Amino acid sequence: MIANGIQTSNFDNQQELIDDLIRMIQLEAYNPPKWVTDNIAPEFIPTTRLNIALKPTPIQKWNLPGVPKGFELYVKRDDLNGSVLGGNKIRKLEFSIAEAIKNGCDHIITWGTIKSNHCRTTALLCAQLGLKCTLLQTSDSKPESLATQGNVMLSMLTDANCYICPSETTNAEADEIVAKFCAAIHADGEKPYVLGRGGTEPIAVFAYLDAFEEMRKQDEKLMSEVTDIFVTSGSGGTAVSLGLAAHMTNSNIKVHGCRAWGDNQIFGKILEKELVGLGMDPEEHKFPAGHKYEGKQNLVHSHDFMVCGGYGNSCPEINEIALKSPRTTGVPLCTVYTGKTVAAMLSLMKNKPEVFNGRKVMFVHTGGIPGLWGDTNLTGLISEKFKKQQPIQPVENFFNQSNSSQNNSDEDSALNSDKESGMEESTNSMF
Ligand SMILES: Cc1ncc(COP(=O)(O)O)c(C=O)c1O
Repeated sequence: MIANGIQTSNFDNQQELIDDLIRMIQLEAYNPPKWVTDNIAPEFIPTTRLNIALKPTPIQKWNLPGVPKGFELYVKRDDLNGSVLGGNKIRKLEFSIAEAIKNGCDHIITWGTIKSNHCRTTALLCAQLGLKCTLLQTSDSKPESLATQGNVMLSMLTDANCYICPSETTNAEADEIVAKFCAAIHADGEKPYVLGRGGTEPIAVFAYLDAFEEMRKQDEKLMSEVTDIFVTSGSGGTAVSLGLAAHMTNSNIKVHGCRAWGDNQIFGKILEKELVGLGMDPEEHKFPAGHKYEGKQNLVHSHDFMVCGGYGNSCPEINEIALKSPRTTGVPLCTVYTGKTVAAMLSLMKNKPEVFNGRKVMFVHTGGIPGLWGDTNLTGLISEKFKKQQPIQPVENFFNQSNSSQNNSDEDSALNSDKESGMEESTNSMF
């Protein structure tokens, strides 16, 4: 069975299967812009893609507290791209799962950390498309304690096979386990397709080449004025894509990738691997069309100072912005990925403005919101805040407070809790 219940009686008939899929799940031809075909050799360019995410995602002016005077901030809301709860991972899967389907594969295997948005997105997308899915995730917690956490819970709601292995599992060890999964899947008569950690692999680079083109078409004037793009860098593919796009289009935009884990050297290696996977020579510093770039470190400016010791670790600056952004701007951030990046960006704006190319900055919001459920960096802080705000109150409190504030507007109340806690802005509504 494939594609939302369509029966394909003869699985060996690949063309029939592909035709079914094309009809049902918007597997479509990929028509890259000229600047892509000019710079990447045809054998590395995918011919098909899924059209699953809701695009274009909005670009909004972002009045985030803490942005120093002189800077102007915008946000590309890829957290709002709809499908399987949004984010950058679905854009990558549009290319890599299309490739899997094209190759007649029916069982997707991938791996990541226990908080991985990529694993959750893959599990849900496979369920949507009728593909089987096996996940390997790293964690030292007991399996039974994980099942109710944000991303894991969503994966568990599908029929994906979910396995965990210790946090210190190396890439090589994970590859070995995945190879064993593949052998077992083959033995069961299914055809596996392996996606790299975090969905990062050369074909997925096209996701944010495409997103960059989308931004240019969406607001040509703004994109000609933007001087800097900030994005979270984990398995690295999204930052690499945006860096390549900025250079291949000859734009003046400086792309900054803020590490969620690991350091700038790790990112350098990821970047190199991606360039090689796209048929480019990382040492030559030029694209096939001949357009030169000044060293791979200038394709993406990698910042690793806000990693806070490792994946999932936080610090007061990250926690503060993750609490402040939804409250003051309605834009949620998690502490593992986007909150870390925004904290790093604000710190650079304040303390090292010289690293910016200019003052018009675009933050690409890569989603990850389901990770907020079970985000242990925030749960303690949130319950403290709730204690002060008394979020659920008898309605009489409203009338009592209204009466008393009419009598004495200076009187303190639970509604002033932000002032008590030292937070500078007040909420917009009475509640
Ligand atoms: C929400 C979110 N943002 C950004 C990233 C980083 O993307 P990439 O793995 O392409 O570097 C990830 C995954 O690691 C993520 O889940």
